[in-house]
Amino acid sequence: MSVTDTGHNGAAGLVDMDDPELMRDPYRGYSRIRERAPLVRAVMAGSEPVWLVTRYADVKGVLTDRRFVVDPANVPGAGQDGLRENLMRTHRMPQEYVDFRKVGINTTDGADHARLRGHVRHALTARRVAGLRTRITEITEALLDRLPEAAEDGVVDLLHAFAYPLTMTVSCELVGVPETDRSRWFEWHKAINPTSDADKAAVWPEVIPYVRGLIERRRAEPADDLITALIRAQAEAERAGPDADDAQRITEVEMISLILTLGLTSQQTAHLVGGGALALATHPDQLALLRDDPELAQRAVHEILRWCTPTVMTPRVRYATEDLEIGGMPVRKGEAVALLLVAADWDPREFDDPERLDLTREPRRPPETHLAFGAGPRYCSGAALARLEGEIALTALVRRHPRLTLAVPPSDLEYAELPGMWRILMTLPVRL
Ligand code: HEM
Repeated sequence: MSVTDTGHNGAAGLVDMDDPELMRDPYRGYSRIRERAPLVRAVMAGSEPVWLVTRYADVKGVLTDRRFVVDPANVPGAGQDGLRENLMRTHRMPQEYVDFRKVGINTTDGADHARLRGHVRHALTARRVAGLRTRITEITEALLDRLPEAAEDGVVDLLHAFAYPLTMTVSCELVGVPETDRSRWFEWHKAINPTSDADKAAVWPEVIPYVRGLIERRRAEPADDLITALIRAQAEAERAGPDADDAQRITEVEMISLILTLGLTSQQTAHLVGGGALALATHPDQLALLRDDPELAQRAVHEILRWCTPTVMTPRVRYATEDLEIGGMPVRKGEAVALLLVAADWDPREFDDPERLDLTREPRRPPETHLAFGAGPRYCSGAALARLEGEIALTALVRRHPRLTLAVPPSDLEYAELPGMWRILMTLPVRL
């Protein structure tokens, strides 16, 4: 791991998050960083150095502390506008489409964020998620029925034959993408996946007019989906006019942005299913536990989310709005802080023997201890849905294929090495 001494605020050195040595064994590499100091300076994807927070209590502390914001323009007096450039770079998005991301739930703070979050909460109620159980089970079983056909010489890629189609179909049903349009939607989904080489800039001029058209279709023919729920909220606010509760308001651009966020975010759930399948295939004792006791599903998914946290770090760094301390170390107003969720979820201060995968592990503070879904005011809005998909998919997989094994040695698995990111699994070849 390349480390240079900077002496900045007394930190021990500068970590290069793209260092190939760190990427080769990231869990242990991140653990070493975590044990070095509560905060270290790090660079990723050629960015300016940021503070890297790795210890469980500190990561949770920042996530729940309102003195941090995601848009640097909201740091009083700082007047930065790094977010726009940052978004353009990460999404390779043409300038005219940046507004759709800039008003997004992941990129706004304060009252606007709370308002958008309220809309998601209304659209993604516990009733709607519970109502998806039957459909998730049907989609899961149908995909599992077809797995043997997808196999070549007895080997099947579980990521592309199971995890991606399952989670992409569920997000289409949630949002309301009609079945006839799904192959197109899947293509866009694949293209914007960070691991794809497709021309991402070419996707937005196609997908945004499509979503506009879909909203018009749902205005004419309402359905039981998220788009219809957002249209109803907008119509109620318009009817109430100036007396409308501010929380009801939603602009067309915000609506499109939410539909894109919720409709194109199944990648993390695919990596919960894929990562879970990999964990089980390489730990036959744990696979047997889940196969023999499907009631274990909830605890098993909690443990899998902790053990192979699909989101390495929160998608947005946080900016301190005042001078403050993290883990006893000073952070200055306006400085950026990156939260390494995977390091927090392997912190021995919080989890006994954190490197061990133990599906019977009880959350220390039920119902959830890990930070895979974040915490506090930006806690993942889709957590209940993702958990449900993980539970249904993994229990059905081990029931149907109790002798599931990896078809290649773990060291031969193919990962995408993304700048500043994680080694994302590209394929998952297994024998059923
Ligand atoms: C295993 C799957 C998933 C993981 C690991 C995951 C992880 C996360 C994390 C860590 C955050 C917090 C980001 C932050 O603090 O900056 C988050 C936020 C969010 N997630 Fe998820 N997510 C998953 C699935 C989903 C699904 C299926 C949906 C939608 C249906 C969803 C929608 C959202 C939204 C809308 C936010 C923003 C919440 C806000 O800022 O208020 N997620 N997710």
